[in-house]
Amino acid sequence: MHLKVTLHYIFLPMNEPIKKIAVLTSGGDAPGMNAAIRAVVRACTYYRIECVGVYRGYQGLIEGDFELLSARHVSNIINKGGTILKSARSNEFRTVEGRVKAHNSLKEAGIGALIVIGGDGTFTGGLRFIEEFNFPIVGIPGTIDNDIYGTDNTIGYDTALNTVVEAIDKIRDTASSHNRLFFIEVMGRDAGFIALNSGIGAGAEEILIPEKDLGLDRLVESLKNSKEKGKTSSIIVVSEGDKIGKSVFELADYINENFPFYDIRVSVLGHMQRGGSPSCFDRVLASRLGVAAVEALLDRSTGIMVGVTNNQVTKVDLDKAIKMNNDISLELLKVAEITSI
Ligand code: F6P
Repeated sequence: MHLKVTLHYIFLPMNEPIKKIAVLTSGGDAPGMNAAIRAVVRACTYYRIECVGVYRGYQGLIEGDFELLSARHVSNIINKGGTILKSARSNEFRTVEGRVKAHNSLKEAGIGALIVIGGDGTFTGGLRFIEEFNFPIVGIPGTIDNDIYGTDNTIGYDTALNTVVEAIDKIRDTASSHNRLFFIEVMGRDAGFIALNSGIGAGAEEILIPEKDLGLDRLVESLKNSKEKGKTSSIIVVSEGDKIGKSVFELADYINENFPFYDIRVSVLGHMQRGGSPSCFDRVLASRLGVAAVEALLDRSTGIMVGVTNNQVTKVDLDKAIKMNNDISLELLKVAEITSI
C-alpha cells in the first residue's frame, strides 16, 4: 500500500532555458527501458530540444560517451528488451573525481539536464550529483524488482512477472508428472514483489520473501498439511533474498532431511527474468514516464522521480523514492495463504 506522497521541487533559475537533455540507463537492465528512451527522445523532439543518449550509464557520462539521438534513432525499439544505451555499474562515479569528470563532460557537450532510468543505485548517484553540482536531474523507475517508493509499478516489473509465471507453469507440468516438490528461486535481492505476485499468479503452495520470516518449521508443517490434504506435487517460490537466510539449495536440503516424502528439485530462474520483449503494460508505462520526465525538466523540476500511482502520473522526491519502502501487501499475503489450501 502506498503512503501519500508529498511533493517537493527544487526550482532552477528561469533565465537559463534547457536546450539539450541527456538520458542514460544504469544498474540492472529491465524490459521497457528502450520504450522509455524512445519516449524521452521523441518528447524532446516534440518540444524542440535536443536529446543526447549516454552509453553505459554513469561510466559513459564520465567518459563523454554520447550520441545525439533523433526521433528516427529510436525507431523499432519499443518492442525490444534490454537497453540500446547499455547499462553499467560505475565504481568511478562513486568517487568525487569521477563525478567532477562527469559534470565536465555534460558542460562541454552543452547539456542542461539529465534523465536517469534505473533503480535505487541509479537514483542515489543522481542525488549525489544534484547535491554537488546543482545539476537538474529527473529519475524514471526502471527495475524488475518494483522496490521503488512513489510508483505503483516500476518499468520491467510486469514483464518479469509474466516471464516468471510462464516458467513456473512449465515447471508445474513436470512437477505434477513426477510428484515432485520444486523450489523455484526468483529475483528480488531485497524485495519480495516478484516472488509474492508470481507465486499467487502461478498457484504456488508456499512463497518465501525477504520482508517476512515465515520460519522453517512452519514450512515443514505446511508441506505436511499439503500432503495430508492429498497434494502430490508442490511449488515453493523463493525470493533470492528471502528472510530465512538460506540459499534455495540449503532450503531444499533441509526439507529433504526433515520431510523425505517428496522427490525434491531446485530451479533458479536467474537472469532470464530480466530479458525479453516488454509487455504492453510496461511499454505504456515507459512511454508515459518518458514524456513526463521531459515535461518535468521543462517545468524546472529536479531531484524528483516520475511515477504512476492510481493511474495518475506523479512526482516524488528522489530521496523518498529510495529510502521509503513500497510495502508488501498484507492482503496479498492472505490471498496466497487462502488460495494455496
Ligand atoms: O535488477 C535487479 C536485480 O534483478 C536483483 O533482483 C538481482 O539481485 C540483481 O538485479 C542481480 O543483478 P546483477 O546480476 O546485474 O548483479
